[in-house]
Amino acid sequence: MEQHRASAGNTSSKAKNSLSVLLEKNRSTRGYDCSFIVRPDQLRRIVAVNTKVASARNRQVLRFRLVMNDEAHKLIPYISMGAGLPEMKLPLPGHEPNAFIVVCSAIEPRTSTYIDLGISVQSMLLQAAEIGLNGLCILSFDKDAIKGALALELEPLMVVAVGKSAEKHALVEITADEPHDYYRKDGVHCVPKVRLDDLII
Ligand SMILES: Cc1cc2nc3c(=O)[nH]c(=O)nc-3n(C[C@H](O)[C@H](O)[C@H](O)COP(=O)(O)O)c2cc1C
Repeated sequence: MEQHRASAGNTSSKAKNSLSVLLEKNRSTRGYDCSFIVRPDQLRRIVAVNTKVASARNRQVLRFRLVMNDEAHKLIPYISMGAGLPEMKLPLPGHEPNAFIVVCSAIEPRTSTYIDLGISVQSMLLQAAEIGLNGLCILSFDKDAIKGALALELEPLMVVAVGKSAEKHALVEITADEPHDYYRKDGVHCVPKVRLDDLII
């Protein structure tokens, strides 16, 4: 497949990074290839999307703490991954992320801050996918512990893990009435997604 894309030239490289392809690649990842160490320039490129995204009244109140390999271990005990698969105790040893972006708010968060947060994080994850990385937005984390571990002065709202995926994922079309829980089947992480006709009202 990669060979086919390479030989097809420009047209295929556009298709490779089309929005629909990036949306598919942008799967929540809870197992990383630890031999790949995320570089500072990669995290900066990901955070740079925030110089271009929408923000309520254009206040741009979000701030981003980059956490590289030297500090990532400090966060691991305070994040929760894959609550839907408690028996797996994710991340598996040796598959932890080695980079994070901790998104903070420069103001007391209000509703629009959380909407800004969603726009920001999804945009960053799509940028990560474009450069061959993956990530995970983590809302389930120990705020005080992470604030302390990183000596943050601002309130952390979300922790975003970033790295090279070591997982296989599949999207599974479902009706709105079918179970939404993600699951593992034959080593593949399966994510049910409600079909378009059931989303449109
Ligand atoms: C606001 C938000 C918070 C999330 N928090 C966590 C989390 O704390 N831990 C985790 O493992 N996944 C977390 N996720 C990832 C979701 O579980 C994931 O998006 C969902 O299973 C669908 O998978 P997909 O992102 O690959 O489509 C979060 C996602 C969102 C949007």
